[in-house]
Amino acid sequence: MERGTFLARLLERLPDLEVYRAAELEARVHRHLPDLLEGLQAVYPEAEEVALRAAEVLGRNLAERPPDLQALDLRRIHTPDWFQKPEMCGYIAYTERFAGNLRGVAERIPYLKELGVRYLHLMPLLLPREGENDGGYAVADYRQVRPDLGTMDDLEALCTRLRQEGISLCLDLVLNHVAREHPWALAARRGDPRYRAYFYIYPDRTQPDAFERTLPEVFPDFAPGNFTWDDELEGWVWTTFNRWQWDVNWSNPEVFLEYLDLILWLANKGVEVFRLDAIAFTWKRLGTNCQNQPEVHALTQALRAAVRIGAPAVAFKAEAIVAPEDLIAYLGTGKHYGKVSELAYHNTLMVQIWSSLASRDTRLFTQALQRFPEKPPSTAWATYLRCHDDIGWAISDTDAAAVGLDGAAHRRFLADFYQGDFPGSFARGLPFQENPQTGDRRTSGMAASLAGLEAALESGNPRLVNLAIERLLLAHAVFIGYGEGIPLIYMGDELGLLNDYSYTEEPTHKDDNRWLHRPQMDWAKAERRHQEGTIEHRLFHGIKGLLEARARIPQMHAAFPTRPLWQANPHLLLLKREHPLGPLVQVYNFSEEEQPFPFEALRREGLVQPFDRITEAPAPAYLRPYERLWLIQRP
Ligand code: GLC
Repeated sequence: MERGTFLARLLERLPDLEVYRAAELEARVHRHLPDLLEGLQAVYPEAEEVALRAAEVLGRNLAERPPDLQALDLRRIHTPDWFQKPEMCGYIAYTERFAGNLRGVAERIPYLKELGVRYLHLMPLLLPREGENDGGYAVADYRQVRPDLGTMDDLEALCTRLRQEGISLCLDLVLNHVAREHPWALAARRGDPRYRAYFYIYPDRTQPDAFERTLPEVFPDFAPGNFTWDDELEGWVWTTFNRWQWDVNWSNPEVFLEYLDLILWLANKGVEVFRLDAIAFTWKRLGTNCQNQPEVHALTQALRAAVRIGAPAVAFKAEAIVAPEDLIAYLGTGKHYGKVSELAYHNTLMVQIWSSLASRDTRLFTQALQRFPEKPPSTAWATYLRCHDDIGWAISDTDAAAVGLDGAAHRRFLADFYQGDFPGSFARGLPFQENPQTGDRRTSGMAASLAGLEAALESGNPRLVNLAIERLLLAHAVFIGYGEGIPLIYMGDELGLLNDYSYTEEPTHKDDNRWLHRPQMDWAKAERRHQEGTIEHRLFHGIKGLLEARARIPQMHAAFPTRPLWQANPHLLLLKREHPLGPLVQVYNFSEEEQPFPFEALRREGLVQPFDRITEAPAPAYLRPYERLWLIQRP
């Protein structure tokens, strides 16, 4: 039956709709005000007053919320698991590199839909400072779009188009720092006390030195230390990242109110997901590494509650690349359970995929997942293989020891392997931010180059090319199939784009080799996805096929947990997803050799006649190199 017909019949008997709208808003306040107050009370002595000022900010923005976004708000309230559905899939791209500008992105919607994308993360596009700007993460104005990409009207128009096509736009909210050229920083530089209080400014080295004793360095290569002397400020200002990225002071409630206003304003333009950039760093405490402090979660809870009143369609995604025991708090633990971000990056899954591809051994992978804390069922991970950042080899010493490895040695092995320096390595990558003091070394590179496609193509050996493609498809199958969240495809990986070495020719990029894996989209290559037998065809359709399979498997809903299964073959990874409709067991072969099918392990899980949901066929008798299977008991 037509929804309209049903609704019309219902409305015939319902004269006064306004009553329902007021009641709806009241219900939101009733539900979320306690969480807002609780969050504020944990950080601000004047919490009640801050809450009342937040009410003004909310009222002002709600008055301007466009009707179709209000309708989306209601739909989301009634579909709170919208981001957990099996058909959810994200795509990450730089606007200019993907499509020139925002209007160009709108023209590429058919491409995104062809792949199966329902969520688009466009990399920073708000006005950054001129010159070096950390890929846009040094914002000079949150209310303006980078002029070469378009205008705020273009952004609003793009959001509308995307929304009509069922695609949610995700934008970065850089909330740990602003550019030295942001109006708040300019005012502070002019000496305005109101704005000096938006930052951490110290007259001499006493406090900075005290903090430095326990602070790590994020960019030891090009931005050593965490404080920068500024002549105009006549002081040392806190700069966790680059010297022109000034950390804002969240212990000042004005900062909270500013960001709340910004989120609601951008949400009114149609932004649906906010990626809370570098959120782990937003609270400072002497004697600690100034990451993951409890106040971070109290503040997120307060912001979250306020935004649920003002723009319920919106979701938060925490960008916290931290250890699992710290990470889980970003999805809500203890009193913040279910009250902070809906989404957070599953960094461990990403690192373990690369680790097992290098070692052809899954024991560390199984061990790490086994010990990984369970997430609240109402949340989801953002699962991924690559993103715009480097890979930090976050292997825990405890996990390594549990499977007979030395943590430091394994991290060294991975860094060597993925920069192509280990004997027999298939990878092509570059070392990022080598820190001689800690021995830490991270890796830059596109997935295809790290997975062997670049070297294989150079060798001209079709067997190696084939293996590299299968390796990439296996890696995608693992994070797409993981199932506790939204899989994020990194632009170009669906076509096997290789490292882009031309970044060295761009003066503002040459010192930061993360640009190695931020290439231009190659639309000529993309065209080859239509040509059977090409690399592009195999990768694009391989990944699209995985996304389509995922969308039709109810067991992929992110509310249900994934558990690794121990079994005898160290080349195989087995993941199990429990579900009321019966379990789904995933089998992945992490080696370039055939492996026997693990019948016994599957039988133990109740799968006597295993049936593969990717190919919709009975399970094979042996596993091909890099084979991936998503199995259920034959219906
Ligand atoms: C996040 C971004 C990274 C940036 C940093 C500082 O980690 O992903 O690219 O350098 O924040 O904003």
